[in-house]
Amino acid sequence: MRNLSIVIMAAGKGTRMKSPLAKVLHPISGKPMLYHSVKAAKALSDDIIVVTYHQADAVEAMLSGYFEGLTFHRQDLENFPGTGGALMGVKPKHDKVIVLNGDMPLMTPDAITRFLSIDAPIVMSVIRLANPSGYGRVVIVDGAVERIVEQKDCTPQELAIDTVNAGVYAFDASILSTFIPQLSNANAQKEYYLTDVIALAKKAGHAIAPLYVEEELFKGVNSKVDLCEAEIIMQRRIKNSAMLNGVTMHLSDTIYIEEGVTFEGECELEAGVILKGKTHIERSIIKAHSVVEDSTLIDSDVGPMARIRPASRIIDTHIGNFVEVKKSTLTGVKAGHLSYLGDATIDTGTNIGAGTITCNYDGKKKYETIIGKNVFVGSDSQLIAPITIEDDVMIAAGTTLPSGRVESGVLVLSRAPVKTVKGFYQKFFGKK
Ligand code: UD1
Ligand code: CA
Repeated sequence: MRNLSIVIMAAGKGTRMKSPLAKVLHPISGKPMLYHSVKAAKALSDDIIVVTYHQADAVEAMLSGYFEGLTFHRQDLENFPGTGGALMGVKPKHDKVIVLNGDMPLMTPDAITRFLSIDAPIVMSVIRLANPSGYGRVVIVDGAVERIVEQKDCTPQELAIDTVNAGVYAFDASILSTFIPQLSNANAQKEYYLTDVIALAKKAGHAIAPLYVEEELFKGVNSKVDLCEAEIIMQRRIKNSAMLNGVTMHLSDTIYIEEGVTFEGECELEAGVILKGKTHIERSIIKAHSVVEDSTLIDSDVGPMARIRPASRIIDTHIGNFVEVKKSTLTGVKAGHLSYLGDATIDTGTNIGAGTITCNYDGKKKYETIIGKNVFVGSDSQLIAPITIEDDVMIAAGTTLPSGRVESGVLVLSRAPVKTVKGFYQKFFGKK
């Protein structure tokens, strides 16, 4: 930790997202956009100030759920709108202050650290873009930054400038305390622009150092197109790091893995696999188009087209196609086809036949199913919870088992007798 304060501006509404949800709360790889930049900041600073206004309560509650020790500053956005307004009244603890836009989810600690390697009262991030549209243009004269012009204030000549402001700055705290109070809102958007600090400081004789950066790290998200592009970049990062740790992926572009999913040992993911939330995969194979959410898989194979819903533990188990598991622990089990296993605990050596359903819900409450060791559950059985099936039980195909307990060693079956009506077919359809 250095003596560094980090201010993250997250008060804006994000009109261009065309959504009632505040921009910084839109999820990328399973976590709100703002979570990602705060996480990067947390690695470097003990003084993080998040500026809020739109949906401030929701933004602050979300961040408090993930991080401790953040300072929240409510912007007086009605009277002082704009990124300059966001910095008004903010009191950083340290002499160096990094300012980040809250809509830059691809930021990393390394990228922030680069700003500290240059010794200047202002270091600002500059990107060269083939399509600079939407960004503030950086006017550079003889290699030195002169000022930043927002797109809406640009002359036609300025619009053609392809060096843009990426929206991250390192300031000496004294620069902010001197020039923020001098900002005016005499511009197209009638806002107080943080970017005007650059021209004011330049006039007062301060050096401004440009730091050339890449879009992969500094991309700003303003629209749902940007949101999608940023997610693709983040997905590539998440997947590359998993592959470098020994995870095999087939057609990785079709695989989606949320931030926070962990792997151990050699794992294999087929095309179209989706891994969400706090999922942990250990020495397992997940076959095509399976979805796993907030669950743990160890020494198992799942899918294709299986769905493992939250709070499941799948250990040493085979799960086949069209099996849905929810809040269940399966240890040493085979469930090959077409089943719903919810609120269940199933033990070693047990075989779950095709079409088995744990009837865990009576319309009011959910109930548990407990199945012991070496149980053979025949195809198309319904197990009405709450139910306990002891070890070494055979359940015949097509059985509906009522709630209660089935003792070890028995065969249970419920079958309607078969009725045979001779000659019925020809009578009904006529002779063919
Ligand atoms: C800003 C820069 C622009 C730069 C771009 C990079 C200004 C004036 N312009 O433009 O030069 O190229 O970022 O991505 O700074 N915010 C507040 N309070 C406000 C307004 C915004 O906290 O009153 C926050 C937003 O929540 C957002 C960030 O500041 O996280 C940037 O705001 P946004 O409106 O996206 O700025 P841009 O127009 O992209
Ligand atoms: Ca922006």
